[in-house]
Amino acid sequence: MDGYKLNKFAGAALLALLIIMGIREVNNAVVPDVELEQQAYVIEGVEVEAAAGAAPVEAAPVVSLAERLAVADAEAGAKVFKKCTQCHTIEPGGRHLQGPNLYDIVGAPVGGKEGFNYSAAVRDAGGVWDYEALDAWLKKPSDYIKRTKMVLALRKDKDRANVILYLRENGENPPALPEVVMPEAPAVEDAMPEEVAPAVEEAVEEAASAS
Ligand code: HEC
Repeated sequence: MDGYKLNKFAGAALLALLIIMGIREVNNAVVPDVELEQQAYVIEGVEVEAAAGAAPVEAAPVVSLAERLAVADAEAGAKVFKKCTQCHTIEPGGRHLQGPNLYDIVGAPVGGKEGFNYSAAVRDAGGVWDYEALDAWLKKPSDYIKRTKMVLALRKDKDRANVILYLRENGENPPALPEVVMPEAPAVEDAMPEEVAPAVEEAVEEAASAS
């Protein structure tokens, strides 16, 4: 084997080594080797075992209302609304029952339906029924407005999102759905350690000029 060929082989071997090292470095940077204090994906109703030695952590809700509404299903919401029809009508100009008519409730003032005899608590609460307000209310009305007369509570996040979408579709000019905010992913350049990037680039250039 002549010197030139040997050089070429050595160069190729070095390049391979550099690339493997580079990939490992990048991999380490992209997937940090840390123990999570908390589950990355929290599943509702599943208790999280705290990491050894750490104080127990409470499972935080990670799916925002905006995200739930983005995937909500108004038809499923219509089924959930069957639980409400005992006390509420939904069609325009529908009668008040035990609760007020709910046509066009999304974006409407709290306690603002004419001709309905609200509790003092709801009548004086103020504010409007935006998406956050409805979600909090339907989760547990008495938590949202103390001493309200409405007692039903929808525990499932999904049921609330579906029924809120259904309420939205039974109204005029409802407010725009909240925007889903995506967490920013780190850019690959940022993930590659500074010392590795030039080394890999150099090796690639060298290989290109050698052949
Ligand atoms: C057992 C009767 C009952 C059921 C079931 C019920 N509600 Fe109500 N709801 C009421 C009453 C009563 C009020 C008025 C509360 C007050 O004045 O304190 C009310 C008020 C409301 C309001 C506020 C209205 C306004 O004008 O400010 C909304 C929104 C609402 N209900 C939604 C629902 C939805 C959605 C469901 C079904 C998931 C539901 N309710 C089920 C009795 C009920």
